[in-house]
Amino acid sequence: MIPGVPGESQVFLNGEFVRIDEAKISVLDRGFIFGDGIYEVVPVYRGNAFRMAEHLDRLDRSLAALRIAQPFDRAGWIDLIEQLLARSNLDTCIVYLQVTRGVAKRDHQFPAEPVKPTVFGMVSAWAPPSAAARAQGLSAITIPDERWLHCEIKSVSLLGNVLAKQQAVDAHVDEVLQFRDGFLTEGSSTNIWVVSGGKLLAPPKNNLILEGIRYGLMGELAAEAGIPFEARRITQDEVAQADELMLSSATKEVLAIVSLDGRPVGSGKPGPVFAQLRAGYDARIAAL
Ligand code: PDD
Repeated sequence: MIPGVPGESQVFLNGEFVRIDEAKISVLDRGFIFGDGIYEVVPVYRGNAFRMAEHLDRLDRSLAALRIAQPFDRAGWIDLIEQLLARSNLDTCIVYLQVTRGVAKRDHQFPAEPVKPTVFGMVSAWAPPSAAARAQGLSAITIPDERWLHCEIKSVSLLGNVLAKQQAVDAHVDEVLQFRDGFLTEGSSTNIWVVSGGKLLAPPKNNLILEGIRYGLMGELAAEAGIPFEARRITQDEVAQADELMLSSATKEVLAIVSLDGRPVGSGKPGPVFAQLRAGYDARIAAL
């Protein structure tokens, strides 16, 4: 038994649906040995996968970046997601997809003979952020970004992110804001947004951050709300002086950060730009 995981829930592993407590991979799977694999986290509302095409596009990009063979075509991935949802009794939930390079003798380089990628999919219980989290906002601390230089790949090699998130937990806050060479990158598992002088700012899309599926969406929501948006490098001082801070991710949606390093952000309450973007996000979900 794994605490918090219903043993009878069905997962997909290499072509079969099996109980999660009976799903097994080889100890030589390169995902296990080297973290040599990629993943996606797709939020599902009332049975509808939100921004599925964008998630599957990013999954394709991650596989291509690691030169892992694509196990399914687009219709195959959609079919897998539908089957996973049909076999779960959850309608608002998370679909997790993972592909590793597969099983091979332990050697760092890619296997000389092509191996079959390991494909894993599961549905997990999930509740969107509570009314309290939306109304009160979250807290964060700033830390140096100590991760590698290919954060744009949604890789399962997440040790840097794991250690960053643990720093948040140890500091009794909700998230970290990471800085590389004095510039904002992202959270441990979220993109970060800064409001300054009525403008929405985000770090540029490059190898230093994961381009969240909500990164593009926030740009759309800002345009719809008439909020000017700029992607550019953001200094630690600008973050410290921000009128508003926000984070976004599949599981946190969009939430305000109201406390940074123990000091209030702006008014210390979720701000007006957050309220506009949050309303836009809710409207997209309601329209699903
Ligand atoms: N994390 N940056 C990092 C490092 C992330 O891990 C995530 C998502 C994001 C936001 O991406 P998106 O909007 O596509 O969720 C940004 C997921 C939720 C996770 O690892 O569980």
